[in-house]
Amino acid sequence: MTFRQVLLTSAVALALSACGQSSAPAADSTAPAAAPEAAAAPAAAPDAAPTAAPESATPTKPATVANCATTIEANDQMQYNADSITVPASCTQFTINLKHVGTMAANVMGHNVVIATQANMEGIDQDGAGVTPDHVKADDARVIAHTKVIGGGESTSVTFDVARIKDGGPFKFFCTFPGHMTLMQGSIQVQ
Ligand code: CO
Repeated sequence: MTFRQVLLTSAVALALSACGQSSAPAADSTAPAAAPEAAAAPAAAPDAAPTAAPESATPTKPATVANCATTIEANDQMQYNADSITVPASCTQFTINLKHVGTMAANVMGHNVVIATQANMEGIDQDGAGVTPDHVKADDARVIAHTKVIGGGESTSVTFDVARIKDGGPFKFFCTFPGHMTLMQGSIQVQ
């Protein structure tokens, strides 16, 4: 009797230990099951990529900056020669010189430089249309700084406090001569 009980007991013990061992691989097998879900995440990336690309219009023509100033050229093809101005953080004031290197008159192919937040560009451009001679509404509080409109062969400049383009951007420089802003604009930032 006692001998059989020992055999039974040991048999149960073996069975329990066998179950214990077999349950361990079962727990491990749940880990690979989670992997397919993680692998599904990258599938969403291709959808997001095409929409992000057009927004990141990275500047390709940085303006040359020296002594807290730069010179931007504008031509008869309705173009600036720069699409990005980086103002050194060490500058208290900054000057933008605008040089019209074309030959067309100011009332036909006039150019200016206006500085404002990107959010205010459209409103400034619309309200400035037809306001002669400079195509900027009088006392427009959205305008941080602007030059007058010039024609071929002329030059002008504007100087402003750098503090005004440090916070609340992004900031842009652009031409408000009617129809020009789409082509004539660039980013301006303090760095
Ligand atoms: Co223009």
